[in-house]
Amino acid sequence: MQIFLDSADIGEIKEINDLGILAGLTTNPTLVSKTITDFDTSIAEICKIIKGDVSVEVVASDTPSMIKQGEKLLKFGENIVIKLPLTWEGIKACKYFSNNGAKVNMTLCFSSNQAVVAGLAGAAYISPFIGRLEDTGIDGLELIRDIRQIYDNYAGKIHTKILAASIRNTNHFRECALVGADFVTMPAKIIKQLISHPLTASGLELFNQDWEKSSLKM
Ligand code: E4P
Repeated sequence: MQIFLDSADIGEIKEINDLGILAGLTTNPTLVSKTITDFDTSIAEICKIIKGDVSVEVVASDTPSMIKQGEKLLKFGENIVIKLPLTWEGIKACKYFSNNGAKVNMTLCFSSNQAVVAGLAGAAYISPFIGRLEDTGIDGLELIRDIRQIYDNYAGKIHTKILAASIRNTNHFRECALVGADFVTMPAKIIKQLISHPLTASGLELFNQDWEKSSLKM
């Protein structure tokens, strides 16, 4: 499983990208509206910072407008992935872009049936939202498990990658890895939590104290 950062904050993107493990980045209209003031300049800069795929979402609701916005997005960088909502109109736009060689990330996926249709429309990524599903009392990880099994049943026919989204805690990350999500996109805060462990911190402190007590040099 590979990791994407879910952010539109350039400072944060640079900080996490420096770790050297990011496979890509996702944004959404909420993240963009909270952190970006000049859309065109910032998206172009993000596309340069991130070496992998960068998903940027359209904000239109009809297919022709989605296509127009998606075509504008493609000009920001070769790594742009057009993020489209999983609606009737979004599926038509997905088919258009996949027929024309552009990568699409179908977002706001809450059912395995939606994921199958997105796969048939040629989406490069499907983004099932775990946290938001769990907010309604439904098991979000079961959705990832179901999509994994269905896509595996049709390996060779559906090429869509599972990009698990709306990750709220490190357990979601662990479970996504166990059930075989291809990618997971997470806020910076959770990526940082993946690395830190209290026993690592206390163990390191003890090692350093013992080293200081000795007369050794490295
Ligand atoms: C992913 O593409 C979305 O931007 C994101 O994961 C949504 O997460 P949220 O439900 O925590 O807002």
